[in-house]
Amino acid sequence: QPRPYVIDQMISAKSIAARIEALATQIRDHFHGTDKLVVVGLLRGSFVFIADLVRELDLPVEVDFLEASSYGDATHSSREVRILKDLRGEIAGRDVLVVEDIVDTGHTLTHVLHLLQSRNPARMEVCVLLDKPTRREVEVSATWTGFTIPDEFVVGYGIDFAQRNRNLPYIGKVRFTDTP
Ligand code: PRP
Ligand code: MN
Ligand code: MG
Repeated sequence: QPRPYVIDQMISAKSIAARIEALATQIRDHFHGTDKLVVVGLLRGSFVFIADLVRELDLPVEVDFLEASSYGDATHSSREVRILKDLRGEIAGRDVLVVEDIVDTGHTLTHVLHLLQSRNPARMEVCVLLDKPTRREVEVSATWTGFTIPDEFVVGYGIDFAQRNRNLPYIGKVRFTDTP
């Protein structure tokens, strides 16, 4: 039986949309003139963010996905990142934008960046929606960050709690109701 909880809104859908517009402008300026950009989303958490971000991005892009999982259904990082699904395309010589929903301990992003770097992209940058720097175990940082947040259990906008709540249009925080 899962612990009972409620979800309190932390970042509204409107704030997320406004922030994505600003991020897209910076990303477009950075990659201005490119004709070889691949936007790589890390499944599953980034599927909502990447969908909104690429639609604000005024650049010719390809979209590809890679599935990396460290949490599974657990609430604690296993620190062992597994690649469950690799990219469809080659990225050697391409411009790559890695899109991730959240950086917590940093294990997932570190693992993925090492893997992708070994394939010799021309340029590789990272855009994450949320950063929880106080939880970092390995040093890694994104080129662009949507919001820096405190150590709360967040869900929604792609992010799950035991695979649920990914479909919330906003970012919420989980509050357990079985303890005062
Ligand atoms: C979550 C989240 C990030 C990662 C961040 O993914 O989407 O990818 O954990 O944690 P870390 O910085 O401590 O590695 P998860 O493994 O839960 O898979 P999911 O995206 O399919 O939910
Ligand atoms: Mn993830
Ligand atoms: Mg998860």
